[in-house]
Amino acid sequence: MSVLLSIEDLHLNFRTFWGTAYVLDGVNLKINRDEVFGLVGETGCGKSVTSMSILRLLPSNAELSGKIIFEGKNLLELSEKEMREIRGKKISMIFQDPMSSLNPLFKIKTQMVDIIQLHHHIDKEEALKKAKELLKAVNLPDTHRILESYPHQLSGGMRQRIMIAMALSFEPSLLIADEPTTALDVTIQKQILNLILELKEKYHFSVLLITHDLGVVAETCDRVGVMYAGNIVEVADVHELFENPKHPYTQGLLAAIPDPRYKKPLKPLRGNVPSLLNPPKGCRFHPRCDYAKPICKEKKPQLISYSENHAVACHLFSSQGGDIE
Ligand SMILES: Nc1ncnc2c1ncn2[C@@H]1O[C@H](COP(=O)(O)OP(=O)(O)O)[C@@H](O)[C@H]1O
Ligand code: SF4
Ligand SMILES: [Mg+2]
Repeated sequence: MSVLLSIEDLHLNFRTFWGTAYVLDGVNLKINRDEVFGLVGETGCGKSVTSMSILRLLPSNAELSGKIIFEGKNLLELSEKEMREIRGKKISMIFQDPMSSLNPLFKIKTQMVDIIQLHHHIDKEEALKKAKELLKAVNLPDTHRILESYPHQLSGGMRQRIMIAMALSFEPSLLIADEPTTALDVTIQKQILNLILELKEKYHFSVLLITHDLGVVAETCDRVGVMYAGNIVEVADVHELFENPKHPYTQGLLAAIPDPRYKKPLKPLRGNVPSLLNPPKGCRFHPRCDYAKPICKEKKPQLISYSENHAVACHLFSSQGGDIE
């Protein structure tokens, strides 16, 4: 499988009024062509800022270092002009709340035609034709009604389909979907995820699917990276991750999945994601880990290969330790 995007030792700090927040602490991950890579972790772990780093859409108080290699180029070395050729065209993004990306004051027609015209340099009539084709591709066949509507006249699921249609207008090689179904109810959520998978097969792009929901990961992803406090702590094929989780954090996340038979999670993870203004030394998970050893408070564990399709960053699996059973 060939690699489409490779993130290497990515560090991101934010300078804030309260001091420096050490938000990404040496992130490493690879996304292959034609795969759905899931990035999962609790809120505040750094999933969204990872995707905003890929697109270089960070606020001015951000300091970013490392490498993001996409189709052979290090995105961190490109000029803003060169990034504009990548953003939205080769790498597209959809968000949790499509309302925040659509302009409430304009009809869908105006917004779609403008975007298509802006990048494709075609006339209005051709852009409108393309908009209709795209709406059909995302299973919105009633194109006339949709195009004549304002965003608030459509349901959340329809708005998300429109965002997907707009994201696909440039045939990107990577679609980043940040919690794309979190705001939708369960039935619509399934439809949108299935649509993304269907379009991926048809148009051959890779997907970086960001979610805090392991159920979504299980149904959608080929491989998964588990993120904790700015680090990738485990990466594996989806079946391997669910069958054979190694990192104590991953095990905790899986044990905390609510069982539909009970109202409460089976075993909630204790504690909270730490403040990144003063993150724990060594393994950032150590204050919440039942297996922590003295070395965990001192030395950061590196992400090392556990088996062919499985890597883990935990001292229990480095030369200092053994397996958890
Ligand atoms: N502009 C910013 N300034 C300071 N801290 C930020 C900023 N944006 C995000 N953060 C911090 O970065 C961390 C990761 O945030 P985020 O990527 O949104 O997490 P997730 O998407 O996993 O929920 C959080 O601690 C958040 O408070
Ligand atoms: S390195 Fe130590 S503290 Fe971190 S997850 Fe492994 S055992 Fe727990
Ligand atoms: Mg987020």
